[in-house]
Amino acid sequence: MEASYLINRPDNEIVKNATTDILKRSDALKFHTGLPEYRPTPLFRLPDLALKYNVGDIYIKDESHRFGLNAFKGLGAVYAISELLKENPNLETFCTATDGNHGRAVAWGATRFEKRSVVFVPGDTTLQRMKCIEKEGARVEKVQGNYDDACAVAEKACKENGWELVQDMAWEGYEKIPADIMAGYLSLFREMEDSIHTLPDSRADVVFMQAGVGSFAGAGAFYYLNRYGARRPRIVTVEPLEADGIFASFTSGQLTTSTGNATTIMAGLNCGTPSLGAWDILKNGVDVALKIPDHYARRAVRELFFPDGCDRRIISGESGAGGLAGFLAVMSEKNLEPVRKVLNITKSSNILFISTEGDTDKTVFNEIITTGESTEKK
Ligand SMILES: Cc1ncc(COP(=O)(O)O)c(C=O)c1O
Repeated sequence: MEASYLINRPDNEIVKNATTDILKRSDALKFHTGLPEYRPTPLFRLPDLALKYNVGDIYIKDESHRFGLNAFKGLGAVYAISELLKENPNLETFCTATDGNHGRAVAWGATRFEKRSVVFVPGDTTLQRMKCIEKEGARVEKVQGNYDDACAVAEKACKENGWELVQDMAWEGYEKIPADIMAGYLSLFREMEDSIHTLPDSRADVVFMQAGVGSFAGAGAFYYLNRYGARRPRIVTVEPLEADGIFASFTSGQLTTSTGNATTIMAGLNCGTPSLGAWDILKNGVDVALKIPDHYARRAVRELFFPDGCDRRIISGESGAGGLAGFLAVMSEKNLEPVRKVLNITKSSNILFISTEGDTDKTVFNEIITTGESTEKK
């Protein structure tokens, strides 16, 4: 199976709406740096991987070190919960739907403020992911259906029980909380730019960002557009072949749900419908949308775990390594030559990835590194 691409011609304008107003006004990094658990996550250089693919330099930010949660998602959830509690300190229960990492983050955020959480997960969520969420203090319930179905169940349960929905996905009329979550993700990009400028010849030319509902990539695109305008790094979104809501939206020119079969090992990216707040930013700031088969995710996990030469080992899960997986597809497939051209990937390009999780599902991860394949059906 091959990857597919779509070349976008963005106008590099940040749309004015409820989401971008919040992103412009917020200072989540100030909030995060005040948390006792806060440490900036490391940014590593992988010169031997860069040599292997004949590019200038490769940087990777390792979010497995974030708040002890093994993924970046805590940044968004804890900030959004803190904003909600500022408005109403009496809120007692926070609820969400998740394919793993966001649910764990909401549970952690709620427990931090001595509040309760209820987390709904799609039917194919592994026991291990459910246990990780429970460990942070949440009640976890499995829903018959996919991620979109779990979102609908969570929304209904909130209405019926008076719980507060903390969803990382926006739709018409539900924009503030997902925007606060994106504002939380901005801390990662602000941190990273500070560290990248301390490295020699440091600038990112191309950034590959993996996408589920697109809130993470949307925050990244907002960050670069806001800071650099049209002189920003070139931006690529990467999705699973069968969960391609952003790719489908670029294809149709408007927010569109994927018609894929939602089968992928990239559990965190297994989302059908893009977030409204994210899509409005992505459409104006992304150069290329990619969708890739799972074998690139497996290869990316292995590239990072079994590094060439003196590069350091990085533990990155199937979704965490999604950005690198997209790069591997671009550098390997003949039919992706136009992508290499439009991104202007040359031997002096600096490429940036964000490993958004560590081995969040140890069973799948171990299968990938021991056999090179995962038999896990997701
Ligand atoms: C590890 C990881 N990376 C990336 C993403 C994608 O984030 P978003 O859904 O905001 O696109 C997720 C989402 O759950 C994730 O768990």
